Amino acid sequence: MAEVILLFLSVVTLLSFPTTKAVYIYHSCPNTTVFTPNSTFQSNLNHLLSTLSSNATRTGFYNATSGRTPNDTVYGLFLCRGDVTTTACKSCVTTATSEVVQRCPVEREVVIWYNDCMLRYSNKSFFSVASESPKMFAWNTQNVSIEPNRFSQVLANLTEVATAAANSGEKFATREVNFTGLISLYSLEQCTQDLSSSDCNWCLVRAIAELPTCCSRKIGGRVLYPSCNVRYEVYPFYNSTSALAPAPGARPLSPPSSVTKAENDMTTVESLQFDLGTVEAATKKFSADNMLGEGGFGQVFKGTLDNGQEIAVKRLSKSSGQGVREFKNEVLLVAKLQHRNLVKLLGFCLEGEETLLVYEYVPNKSLDYFLFEQLDWSRRCTIIGGIARGILYLHEDSRLRVIHRDLKASNILLDANMNPKISDFGMARMFGVDDQTQGNTRRIVGTYGYMAPEYAMEGLYSVKSDVFSFGILLLEILTGRKNILGFHPTNSAPTLLSFAWQLWNEGKVLELMDPMLKDSCNPNEFLRCIHIGLLCIQEDAKNRPTMSSVVLMLKSESISLSKPERPAFFTGRSINDHCHTLGDLPSFSVNALTISDDIPR
Ligand SMILES: *[C@@H]1O[C@H](CO)[C@@H](O)[C@H](O)[C@H]1NC(C)=O
Ligand SMILES: *[C@@H]1O[C@H](CO)[C@@H](O)[C@H](O)[C@H]1NC(C)=O
Ligand SMILES: *[C@@H]1O[C@H](CO)[C@@H](O)[C@H](O)[C@H]1NC(C)=O
Ligand SMILES: *[C@@H]1O[C@H](CO)[C@@H](O)[C@H](O)[C@H]1NC(C)=O
Ligand SMILES: *[C@@H]1O[C@H](CO)[C@@H](O)[C@H](O)[C@H]1NC(C)=O
Ligand SMILES: *[C@@H]1O[C@H](CO)[C@@H](O)[C@H](O)[C@H]1NC(C)=O
Ligand SMILES: *[C@@H]1O[C@H](CO)[C@@H](O)[C@H](O)[C@H]1NC(C)=O
Ligand SMILES: *[C@@H]1O[C@H](CO)[C@@H](O)[C@H](O)[C@H]1NC(C)=O
Ligand SMILES: *[C@@H]1O[C@H](CO)[C@@H](O)[C@H](O)[C@H]1NC(C)=O
Ligand SMILES: *[C@@H]1O[C@H](CO)[C@@H](O)[C@H](O)[C@H]1NC(C)=O
Ligand SMILES: *[C@@H]1O[C@H](CO)[C@@H](O)[C@H](O)[C@H]1NC(C)=O
Repeated sequence: MAEVILLFLSVVTLLSFPTTKAVYIYHSCPNTTVFTPNSTFQSNLNHLLSTLSSNATRTGFYNATSGRTPNDTVYGLFLCRGDVTTTACKSCVTTATSEVVQRCPVEREVVIWYNDCMLRYSNKSFFSVASESPKMFAWNTQNVSIEPNRFSQVLANLTEVATAAANSGEKFATREVNFTGLISLYSLEQCTQDLSSSDCNWCLVRAIAELPTCCSRKIGGRVLYPSCNVRYEVYPFYNSTSALAPAPGARPLSPPSSVTKAENDMTTVESLQFDLGTVEAATKKFSADNMLGEGGFGQVFKGTLDNGQEIAVKRLSKSSGQGVREFKNEVLLVAKLQHRNLVKLLGFCLEGEETLLVYEYVPNKSLDYFLFEQLDWSRRCTIIGGIARGILYLHEDSRLRVIHRDLKASNILLDANMNPKISDFGMARMFGVDDQTQGNTRRIVGTYGYMAPEYAMEGLYSVKSDVFSFGILLLEILTGRKNILGFHPTNSAPTLLSFAWQLWNEGKVLELMDPMLKDSCNPNEFLRCIHIGLLCIQEDAKNRPTMSSVVLMLKSESISLSKPERPAFFTGRSINDHCHTLGDLPSFSVNALTISDDIPR
C-alpha cells in the first residue's frame, strides 16, 4: 500500500547550496519485513553498504547487488543530486550508509533521504522499476501571494523539465523560468539512472501531478519518490554552474537572463543592404498612412516586404556624420546585437539622398502609451525585467559595449505578448558621434527628464547614465506617471523623481503606487522596486549600481539593498524644447496624484 509521509519542512535557509554536511530529511523502513541479526543477509547488507560508499567517490549514482542465494540477496543503490560535487556526494553517501543501520537496524526495505543524496536497499530486486512508494512531501510554509493561479500553471509546465531530465544521460535537469519577470521559479528534477527514459518521464510526471495536492500555493515544494524526485523554489537552491554541465539534454526553457546569443558571423554588409525600390514598395513610397511616428532621428514607417514580412523603416532626416564605409561597418556591428529585449536591426539602405534603417516590426505601441493603460503588476515586472536585461546585454554581454544614451518610455516597444524591446540603440555609433565606452560629447542625443545630470549638463556619459535613465523608467512604470516638469503643483517636488525621494524619506513610498496596481501588487515587491529605482538615480554616478547588479537585485529578493543617497534633482534648463520627445501624454491633473479608492479602474 502506498505509504504517504507528510513532512512539514520549514525552509529557513534561503541559499542551500550543497554543503559537505549531509542534511537528513527523512527515512522509511517499515518493521513488517525484518531480518535476523548476524544472518547472512546482514553480512550481505554490510558488504553492499561498503561497496556503495566506496563507489561514491567517482559517480553520482551506483547500484549494486550482494549475496548469492535468493533469500539472502540485498539490492541497493544511491543517488546524489545532480548538481552536487563528488566530494559532497561521497560525504552524503558515507553518512547515509553509517546512519541507516542505526535508524533501520533490522529492516529489509529501506529508503533514506538527505538533501544531497538518497540511499535505498531491499531484499527484492527493484532495479529498472519506477516506484512511487514510499513517498515524501515537503513544502515551504510561505504562500504564493501574487497570481496563485498562474503560479499553478507554471508548476504544471514542469513536465517540460521532466522530458529534459528523462532524455538526459544523467536523468537530471534543472530549469529557471520567469514567473512575474521579477520572480523566477527554480526547479530540479531527477530519476535514478537505472530507469529507462520513458519510466523516468512517467515517474516525474506522477510526482509533478502531486504538487497541487501537497504544495498548493506554496512558494516551494518537493515530492520525493524512491525512483525520482521533483523540487521547486523561488530562489536558486541548486548549483546552476555544475547543474548545466552534466545534463546536455537540460536546456533552459527560456534562455538565461543575459545569454549572449550566438552571433552570426556570416552576416555581411551586403546581406544587410536593402535597395531603395524594395523599401519604397514596402512602405508605399513612405506614404503618410504608413507613418508610425517620428523620433529624434527621423520618421518611422511601417512596411511589408514581398514575402509578407513586416518591417519598420526609419528614414533618417540627416545623413551620418561619418563616411559611407564607417556607417556600413557600424550598421553591421549594431545588426549583430541580438537579444529578445532589443528591436532587431535588419539592414539599411543608402541611396541618393536617402539613409534608411530597416528594423523588425514590433506590433504593439511603445511603453509611454501603455503606462497609462491597465498594465497589471506582473506585466510591469516582466517589462522592467526585460528592459533591464536588454540594457545589460548592451552594456556587458554583447561584444560591443553600447551605451544607449536615450532610454525612455517611447523607446521601449512592446511586442504582441507585451514583452519589451528596446529601440534606437547604437544610433550614436552609426552616427559616428564618438567613442562609445565613455566620454564627453557636445552632441547630446538624450532626452531631458531621463538624462543623468552629468550627461545633461556636462555631456559626460557612461553606462551609469543609462542606469540613471533606467531608474527613471522604473519609477514611471511603477507609478504610472511621467517624470516631467509640472508633475506636481508645489515647488517642493517638481518632478516624479523628487516626489519619490520626498515620500521615501517620509516613509510613505506606498503612496507612489499606481492606484491600478492596488489589487495585483505585493507592497513589499513594490517597495523593493522603488528602492532599486532610487539607487539608479543617485546623483553621484559612482554610487549607481551597474546593470548586472540591477538585474540581480530585481531577480533575487535575498540580495540586500544599500541605502540610496540623494538623487539628482535635475530640473532641466531647456526642458520645454524637448517636451515633444516625451511623447503625447494625457494631461495630468492634480487629482491623479492622490491615491484614493474612487479612481476609475
Ligand atoms: C512496528 O512499529 C510499530 C510502531 O511504529 C510498533 O507499534 C510495533 O510494535 C512494531 N513492531 C515490531 C515487530 O517491532
Ligand atoms: C523479502 O523479505 C520478506 C520478509 O521479510 C519476504 O516476505 C519476501 O519474500 C522477501 N522477498 C524476496 C524476494 O526474497
Ligand atoms: C551478533 O554478533 C555480535 C558480534 O559479532 C554479537 O555481539 C551479538 O551478540 C550478536 N547478536 C546476535 C543476536 O546474535
Ligand atoms: C565498486 O563496486 C564494485 C562492485 O559493485 C566493487 O567491486 C568495487 O570495489 C567498488 N569500488 C570501489 C572503489 O570500492
Ligand atoms: C544495476 O541495475 C541494472 C538495471 O538497471 C542491472 O542490469 C544491473 O545488474 C545492476 N547492477 C548491479 C551491480 O546490480
Ligand atoms: C528461503 O526462505 C523460505 C522462507 O522464507 C524458505 O522456505 C526457503 O527454504 C529458503 N530458501 C533457501 C535457499 O534458504
Ligand atoms: C497560507 O495559506 C493558508 C490557507 O490559505 C493559511 O492557513 C496559512 O496560514 C498561510 N500561511 C502563511 C505562512 O501565511
Ligand atoms: C507553459 O509552456 C508553454 C509551452 O512552452 C508556454 O507556451 C506557456 O506559456 C507556459 N505557461 C506558463 C503559465 O508558463
Ligand atoms: C515572463 O512571464 C511573463 C508572464 O508574467 C510572460 O508574459 C513573459 O513572456 C515572460 N518573460 C520572459 C522574458 O520570458
Ligand atoms: C558549483 O559547481 C561548480 C562546478 O562543479 C563548482 O566549481 C562550484 O564550487 C560549485 N559551487 C558551489 C557553491 O558548490
Ligand atoms: C498589444 O497588447 C495587447 C495586450 O495588452 C494585446 O491584446 C494586443 O493584441 C497587442 N496588440 C498587437 C497589435 O499585437
